[in-house]
Amino acid sequence: MDTLFLEPTYRDLNIAADIIRTGGNVIFPTETVYGLGANALDNEAVSKIFAAKGRPSDNPLIVHIYDRKQLPEIVREVPEKAKMLMDAFWPGPLTIILPKSEKIGDAVTAGLDTVGVRMPENEIAKDFLRYANVPVAAPSANLSGKPSPTSFGHCIEDMNGRVDAIINGGNSRVGVESTVIDMTKEPIIYRPGDITKGQIEKVLGQEVRIMADEAKNTETPPSPGLKYKHYSPNAEVYILSGDLELIIKTANRSSKRAGLLLFDEQIAMIGDKILPDVKVMSLGSMNTSAEAEAKLFAALREMDEYGVKVIFSPLLPDGDRWLAVKNRLYRAAGNVITSAAMYYNNDYMYCSECDKIGENIKLICFVCTGNTCRSPMAEGIFNHFAKERGIRYRAYSYGVYAAADMPVSENAVKAAMRDNIDLRGHKSKVFTPELAEKMDLILTMGISHKNAIIQLYPKYKDKVYTFCEYIKNPYFLDIPDPYGRDEGYYQMCYNLLKDYVIKLIDMLEKSERDIDDKV
Ligand code: TXA
Ligand code: MG
Repeated sequence: MDTLFLEPTYRDLNIAADIIRTGGNVIFPTETVYGLGANALDNEAVSKIFAAKGRPSDNPLIVHIYDRKQLPEIVREVPEKAKMLMDAFWPGPLTIILPKSEKIGDAVTAGLDTVGVRMPENEIAKDFLRYANVPVAAPSANLSGKPSPTSFGHCIEDMNGRVDAIINGGNSRVGVESTVIDMTKEPIIYRPGDITKGQIEKVLGQEVRIMADEAKNTETPPSPGLKYKHYSPNAEVYILSGDLELIIKTANRSSKRAGLLLFDEQIAMIGDKILPDVKVMSLGSMNTSAEAEAKLFAALREMDEYGVKVIFSPLLPDGDRWLAVKNRLYRAAGNVITSAAMYYNNDYMYCSECDKIGENIKLICFVCTGNTCRSPMAEGIFNHFAKERGIRYRAYSYGVYAAADMPVSENAVKAAMRDNIDLRGHKSKVFTPELAEKMDLILTMGISHKNAIIQLYPKYKDKVYTFCEYIKNPYFLDIPDPYGRDEGYYQMCYNLLKDYVIKLIDMLEKSERDIDDKV
């Protein structure tokens, strides 16, 4: 199906409203996350939601309204205490579970006798719901198994071609799904959100239980959504307890491509110890949970996009305000907290010098133009032989004018494979000033790359050399560029690079010995 992309204009929102009234599906922004809506009074329309998300239909949906006058159509009664919560928090990120009316079918409630109702505060959502003028059932608009979408881009990524329309509402203000509270009996919070237990208790003047984590292992959880692993990215997630420095070392020497979720304060304190191939995403300042809520899902998606295979996060701060973020992130980690020391000792190292990484390992990078031929070959050769020799260096490679995420050229892969060096996982990366800062030595394939770097980042000029210059090669200034040439030419360049890299390793080993001797 063709998906319409709509803007939040009067005209477009009326188109969206028409789609809803005629039995279609529309993705609309709310302050929490984007929702995938259908007319809650039309079972057939609602069933399309599950098909679009690719999720079983045994999870009840939240019904969205723009005015309390819609309530009688949806619920049998509104207890006094539920009214108090509506007065305090509606419109806003609070879903209230109430006894359902006859008009709300099983497709919405998954057969339960109750229904969750919410009045979003987002202006676009309110207009859209007003124009539609029917209650709109909507789960979060992610594909099943993906983090909830908090931007128009996320919705397109997951749902283009699967729904009738998507309304562009920019970035979600809150960023995590609404707080869900059951008010059909003694109040219980099923899902923590931006509206906290403390805020609710203050309004109700009584203590409120949180059910979220108690329910996770029961066969029939009171809130069926609790049994789904909604919030996990493709990467494995580990919540690590222990010293921040050890957590960073764990990421640095991870045998899988690693990502770190940290706060700005932590990055400021220790960011320079993180190796450049670890993907770092910030959750904002530790002083505000709101920033972390707004950033979490986008950060998890970006980690996946970047090809991160394992995400590490230190423990989140304590307190009621942090429960919403904690609930999402810790669930992605299977609600398990792992000791950093244990993980660190058990993760099998991918190179013999790993113990030293993050301590006094030195970083070298090879730089060429596009980071698809010469520099990745040099990186691969270096790390392979440096490992055999046990020297405290680790190599990376970048291109001064690289396009991101291009694979290494086929002939380069073939040449390296003859030495059992596998370059297939490499993706091209651009050389940046942050990288320049972290490197101890920058070796370029040609004089033009050296000149470009010095011109762009003059303050690093003392550590930039052409490779040939650094190893005092009398024959060439540039490593010949095999780009576009045949297999034989690539092999020749590879052999040359290998000779030179081994010479470089000899030099570095010697200087290491000299330093060790002096100490
Ligand atoms: O912020 C939000 O709530 C977003 C936006 C779009 O409004 N919606 C959302 O929907 O997150 P969804 O389907 O991803 O999550 C709904 C949660 C699930 O955990 C579900 O089990 C629970 O609410 N829920 C809904 N109706 C319920 C009911 N009658 N009884 C118990 N739990 C219910
Ligand atoms: Mg969801």
